[in-house]
Amino acid sequence: MTEPKFAPSILSADFARLAEAALAVERAGADWIHVDVMDGHFVPNLTFGPKMVADLHRATRLPLDVHLMIERPEDWVDRYAEAGAAYLTIHVEASQDVPGTLAAIRARGVRSGLTLNPETPVEAVLPHLGALDLALVMSVHPGFGGQKLIESALGKVKAIRESLDRRHLSAELEVDGGIKPDNAARVVAAGATVLVAGSAIFEDPDGPVAALRKFKAAIRS
Ligand code: DX5
Ligand code: ZN
Repeated sequence: MTEPKFAPSILSADFARLAEAALAVERAGADWIHVDVMDGHFVPNLTFGPKMVADLHRATRLPLDVHLMIERPEDWVDRYAEAGAAYLTIHVEASQDVPGTLAAIRARGVRSGLTLNPETPVEAVLPHLGALDLALVMSVHPGFGGQKLIESALGKVKAIRESLDRRHLSAELEVDGGIKPDNAARVVAAGATVLVAGSAIFEDPDGPVAALRKFKAAIRS
């Protein structure tokens, strides 16, 4: 099985020590850092804004994979682009103008991402695949770490994988929520190329290096 990229979600890290957390996963061999931006409206939780992204961008060499769980993401593209986001992912439910926002992200030299909530049918993202550098399937209800993976998300991963392959598109296919070493191989088999994991990496009692090793071993076996 081809090894996926790993994008630890710092939502589960100690917010008073985010630079240390970023360095720890960088040293542990993570590929990206997943940054969950929440506005208290689109989801019932609040996290970071653009300054946190800019400060993290200075603290790590890893690409910042910024997941915007906010209303009107079109109003924020410039600020997150300036902050140094490598990927900027918007929710299909949150934007008034999905094609325009994806185009604005790319016009700022940032890679474009689109995601959907568990209750949103996969058909909502399929028409946009040609405009994407990253398609993200949410496998939990966004807002909080530490939830259980919703199995029906795997069907969406397969549907997007089929559509990408049929159209010879090379967007990354990322899955976010409830990913653990014991289900990671199934998620990759469904077609994912990037795995987000928060609690499984930052709350592993053996630390993030051991946690990533467990993921890699589970996928190889
Ligand atoms: C949920 C976030 C996820 C979260 C995943 O709203 O989008 O990125 O951090 O955390 P775990 O891996 O604990 O489900
Ligand atoms: Zn996320």
